[in-house]
Amino acid sequence: MLRLFAALMIVGLLLACFTTWLFDSYDTAWHPKRSLNQSKKIAPPFPSGQLDNIFWFVQVSDIHISRFHDPRRIPDFERFCSETIDVIKPDLVLATGDLTDAKTESKMGSLQHEVEWQAYHNVLKRSRVLERTKWIDIRGNHDAFNIISLESVNNYYRKYSANQKVGSFHYIHRTPFGNYSFICADATLTPGPKRPYNFYGIINQTQMDMLATFREESFSSNKSIWFGHYTTSTVISPFPGIRELMSTAVAYLCGHLHTLGGFMPVLHSRHQGGTMELELGDWMENRRYRILAFDHDLLSFSDLTFEDWPAVLITNPKDAQYLHPGVEPLGRIRSSTHIRVLAFSESLITAVYVSVDGVSLGKAVSAGGPLYVMLWDPTLYATGLHTIRVKVEDSAGRSKVREQHFTLEEDLTPSFGFMQSFILLTDHYILARIGFVAIVLLNLGGLVLFRFMPVSSTRGLSSQAWTSLHLVSKSNVFFYSLLLFNLCTALGPWFIGEVIDGHNGVCFAFGVFVDGHFLEGSLTYVVGVMQVLFFNMPLTYYLCWSLHHRCRGTNFRSQICRPGCRWRTLAMHFGMLVIMIWQAYSCYFLLETYGPLAFFLSPVRTWAFLMGLLLVYRAWWGTPPRFSDGSKTNRPL
Ligand SMILES: *[C@@H]1O[C@H](CO)[C@@H](O)[C@H](O)[C@H]1NC(C)=O
Ligand SMILES: *[C@@H]1O[C@H](CO)[C@@H](O)[C@H](O)[C@H]1NC(C)=O
Ligand SMILES: *[C@@H]1O[C@H](CO)[C@@H](O)[C@H](O)[C@H]1NC(C)=O
Ligand SMILES: *[C@@H]1O[C@H](CO)[C@@H](O)[C@H](O)[C@H]1NC(C)=O
Repeated sequence: MLRLFAALMIVGLLLACFTTWLFDSYDTAWHPKRSLNQSKKIAPPFPSGQLDNIFWFVQVSDIHISRFHDPRRIPDFERFCSETIDVIKPDLVLATGDLTDAKTESKMGSLQHEVEWQAYHNVLKRSRVLERTKWIDIRGNHDAFNIISLESVNNYYRKYSANQKVGSFHYIHRTPFGNYSFICADATLTPGPKRPYNFYGIINQTQMDMLATFREESFSSNKSIWFGHYTTSTVISPFPGIRELMSTAVAYLCGHLHTLGGFMPVLHSRHQGGTMELELGDWMENRRYRILAFDHDLLSFSDLTFEDWPAVLITNPKDAQYLHPGVEPLGRIRSSTHIRVLAFSESLITAVYVSVDGVSLGKAVSAGGPLYVMLWDPTLYATGLHTIRVKVEDSAGRSKVREQHFTLEEDLTPSFGFMQSFILLTDHYILARIGFVAIVLLNLGGLVLFRFMPVSSTRGLSSQAWTSLHLVSKSNVFFYSLLLFNLCTALGPWFIGEVIDGHNGVCFAFGVFVDGHFLEGSLTYVVGVMQVLFFNMPLTYYLCWSLHHRCRGTNFRSQICRPGCRWRTLAMHFGMLVIMIWQAYSCYFLLETYGPLAFFLSPVRTWAFLMGLLLVYRAWWGTPPRFSDGSKTNRPL
């Protein structure tokens, strides 16, 4: 699924290159003209040598506890909850969705397994992590597979999670030095269809209004963080959109895309409004987690791998890449007296070395807890981009180096990579929708155009198979079958089946109806594009080619067996075979994901497969095509 998504990204990238020239929409550098005046005020407290005005928290995402795969996943997660959390001692932990895998053993179908939820619950209980920190776990798309309503018995999240809050909520973390808002934007689908049509989340107007009230409430907090399972690029939300709503937050933390099958190990970007979008790699395969810290209201974070100690997080001066001048009091870096570093390890930390721009400043001293500080003079670095390098050693002989850029000028924030921004900031479903409409129109347009276009007999039998589209278009059987099929792909139902166990639904390109609810289409357009590109179009082309050859007097046997049979002919037949196998696989996929009813009542999959076979048969072995004007071709068939 994710690899497929990654592959589609690359295709989409070409489209995006085009759109960027038009709109400049991936410009992720911070523009001072948009900054709020807040940052200009430089008020204390300033980062100093004390363990004060700082708290840290942890994010972990896409845990995918599975009863079938990777037996190490659960014990590792248990060690994370006990040992790792014990070392870090975070104020809170955000588990941003996909707590369980909820797939069948073949990984194709999906359903909620109570044993997976019990395993998750047992880990929380045995590790006693809930007694040691605030554990906020939310649902991801996998946790919403095959759930008709939030009250249904198989919504095990209600029973086995720590948080048990479905829907969006606002949690305020209160400390003696300030209040911090954590706003969860829950975009999981209700009802939740089985996979794959719940890859995109939806936030409807009611939920947007609720989030808007949370946003208002969060103004009385020092800083706010938004979090959710889906990246904003995989959420459908009404105008002005979810990104606009979270523009007063420092960052939006999410998961969902894992590392895109290894293509994108780091997925961070910045919204137009300045909010950072920080996707976290998965626990499932990559055992990723993240430590974040608010130090004097400046957010820093570090993406880490399980048991890769020591963990290092430089909180002052914070990384230049991740500044949000609109809401963060960046002037405090300029007025700080100390460099501040959080260092965590299972073993004792023995040394924390700091150097700036290649010049060693010496050893930082412990300020209590995991905080290490070192006196510095920020005026030496007043302009330009500088590099800070911290090396942490522990008593087990391990060491880690962390290097980052920093700047004391607010308008010198580096942009993010184009690919990261493209993946996180594009509303891919809109691209997919445009692509789908375009490709369907192209396909239908060709058929209809050739139907009504007069054909000169010389051109009609030219050597190019493509120009013989009129052979298909002018034959009633082929024309109407293909027309109906393409119309069905565009507008008709794709299949009718158990979208959720015990509840039948209908899937269209533009969305899924189930149990009186309508779920707007998103991934369906992507699947639609693939369907047209890899079945409807090649089938039409192959039929053209076949009829073209039959009109020239060849039949299947003579074409295959004639001496000097060209490789191109074989390639065409082989290509068609591959296309049919692909379509057959799609039917099998439908059977596995949505059950036998969907398999049998599927115009665009199973029926189309049979139609394809019949048309191919008819093209080669059928009676000669009869044209709509009543005449036959002048060549013997
Ligand atoms: C920032 O402050 C200046 C005056 O100090 C004011 O003219 C300007 O409108 C303010 N900008 C914003 C975005 O509030
Ligand atoms: C948090 O906000 C309060 C009230 O505005 C302020 O007094 C306090 O200094 C802030 N805390 C930090 C760490 O900046
Ligand atoms: C945090 O919120 C509480 C309750 O709303 C309030 O009494 C307190 O003053 C706030 N603390 C800070 C530092 O703003
Ligand atoms: C939005 O979604 C919520 C829960 O998912 C549902 O209760 C509500 O009726 C929906 N509102 C609209 C306008 O569709």
